[in-house]
Amino acid sequence: MSQFEEEYEELVGPIKIELFKEFLPAERSSLSVLDVGAGTLPNAQYLQETNVTAVDPNPEMWPYARANAARHGLTSLNLVNGVAEALPFPDSSFDRVICTLVLCSVADVQAAVREMHRVLKPGGKLLFLEHVAAGKEQALLRLSQELLNPLQRALADGCNLTRDPLDQIANGSFKLEREKHFSIPSLGLIGPHVGGIALR
Ligand SMILES: C[S@@+](CC[C@H](N)C(=O)[O-])C[C@H]1O[C@@H](n2cnc3c(N)ncnc32)[C@H](O)[C@@H]1O
Repeated sequence: MSQFEEEYEELVGPIKIELFKEFLPAERSSLSVLDVGAGTLPNAQYLQETNVTAVDPNPEMWPYARANAARHGLTSLNLVNGVAEALPFPDSSFDRVICTLVLCSVADVQAAVREMHRVLKPGGKLLFLEHVAAGKEQALLRLSQELLNPLQRALADGCNLTRDPLDQIANGSFKLEREKHFSIPSLGLIGPHVGGIALR
């Protein structure tokens, strides 16, 4: 992982620990987990003893994902080339789906949410954690995000600063079990976040 990723993971560590604790059952050895837009697989550290499929359109991430999996003792990892908007899996394939820092970059948020719902088994859960547009109470930050969004998109692989996918998740047939908006001021433009768990 890059230094930024390491630092980011440290900052969101407490919230991820809390979310993953609720997301994964104590007995998890037969659990199938899909990490969408998994990148270098920073979530490996939370996924020991599960069967992980990581899907991403950029295979250059895979050596890092494998290294991360090995570093955290993940023994079952399947790496698949694909996009969130057209997941290459049959309906009801997974017990759990993870989506962290991905909906800022996808071409079609609604299609991605629909696909995550489709590949989850009934009763399965989605864990999401995304940086989002600042709320009304952070008007100056919101204005900066609007102004700098074209530059961010150009420099950061299509990443948008001005989205908030919570409504699309809630409207996409998921039932929100837990959701929280929070901010990490040291992250500047990508400080505002939403995280939570949704039930299929
Ligand atoms: C900021 S990284 C996040 C990686 C990882 N999920 C994390 O939490 O750090 C965004 C990832 O989304 C992937 N990505 C971009 N467009 C995508 C799409 N349409 N569907 C799935 N993944 C996509 C990128 O290749 C990249 O690995």
